Amino acid sequence: MHIQEYISLKPYTTFGIEARARYFVEVDSVESLRQVLSDPIASSHELLILGGGSNILLTRDFDGLVIRLVITGISVAAEDELHTYVRAGAGVVWHELVMQSIEMGLSGLENLSLIPGSVGASPMQNIGAYGVEIKDVFHSLEAIDRQTGELRIFSHEECHFGYRESVFKHELKNRYVIVAVTFKLSRKPHYQISYGDIQKTLEAMGNTELSTKAISAAVIQIRQSKLPDPAELGNAGSFFKNPEIPSEQYEQLKSKFPNIPGYLTTPGQIKVPAGWLIEQAGWKGYREGSVGVHARQALVLVNYGGGTGAEVKALAEKVQASVLEKYGIQLSAEVNFI
Ligand code: FAD
Ligand code: EPU
Repeated sequence: MHIQEYISLKPYTTFGIEARARYFVEVDSVESLRQVLSDPIASSHELLILGGGSNILLTRDFDGLVIRLVITGISVAAEDELHTYVRAGAGVVWHELVMQSIEMGLSGLENLSLIPGSVGASPMQNIGAYGVEIKDVFHSLEAIDRQTGELRIFSHEECHFGYRESVFKHELKNRYVIVAVTFKLSRKPHYQISYGDIQKTLEAMGNTELSTKAISAAVIQIRQSKLPDPAELGNAGSFFKNPEIPSEQYEQLKSKFPNIPGYLTTPGQIKVPAGWLIEQAGWKGYREGSVGVHARQALVLVNYGGGTGAEVKALAEKVQASVLEKYGIQLSAEVNFI
């Protein structure tokens, strides 16, 4: 455990934005995390817990302590008649867990292939894609109280998962460091292929027999066709959440904009794709200096290189203002601002 000073955070977030951390440390075990948390630097400074940095926008130098979690390890915690409970350290790369679960013959994570980031961050916003969210396969998590260093186990219910939401973004914001997550995976596969283009892509790939491997490959292909690779173009995935609006508001909008897509989520609530709203407001492919709106997916803001967090934030605010003016819908950010 070695706390470094004045470290560039550019390599540690997928937006690739230059910003400096006053203090920076990597922790590879619960013991070293506890040691760091009890250090006077931690108690006298703001803390930022970092995983893969794929859902963060740095808008300033961070005058506190960045704790980057690199706790590894994937193991079988338990088994019952139908399920295998797989426990993974917070620093495990999400996609590596997905690949390993498929190799182990387990089903549940295949639709979540290729989501960037770490296992530890996955419960923060209940990551989701292609008809599955981690709440569908989550069993429990282990977290360390930042103040006391005590370990607490959170059950599914205690995490209050919602669409891109959990208790850790609200009541318990900045209170816990997640150190491990256990997933309840199925030994008998339950394939979920109704969402989006999965079926069409499976057919196009010549996969006539369903398997977790085939679904994973299809999801990877769809994602690579739409989403920019952060290694080539700085971004943090969807910048905004898809808004949910009351069905009456949706019907009013539909009479004015007959093509507006919408999906019933909870009764009386319609989810509208923010990408459509942003594209129709004229932003798709827009570029302003070093930052812009991705040309293949309007929900993704990008840094062409050398852009600042302030520039991305200013562009996001312009996009929000124009969508609000045209459709009366307030977009809220999915990305965490620092
Ligand atoms: P970070 O960006 O490091 O952190 C995110 C937040 O969680 C921060 O507030 C941080 O302080 C906190 N945090 C991180 N680790 C911990 C921990 N161990 N304990 C406590 N707090 C912690 N998301 C989806 O849901 N679905 C997608 O399909 C999807 N696609 C994406 C595609 C691309 C190209 C990119 C760049 C991003 C995408 N995302 C998607 C967003 C992102 O991958 C997820 O939010 C991911 O879970 C973030 O993980 P991370 O380790 O990078 O988190
Ligand atoms: N659309 C457009 N123009 C665009 C982009 C999208 O019109 O430029 C419309 C189309 O109607 C399309 C619909 O939006 O059918 C949905 O688009 P897409 O399937 O690309 O999904 P999304 O709603 O933009 C969400 C998640 C993604 C996740 C995919 C697949 C959110 C905020 N985003 O995107 O998650 O991978 O579905 O499930 O819910 C992320 O959170 O970072 C992320 C990438």
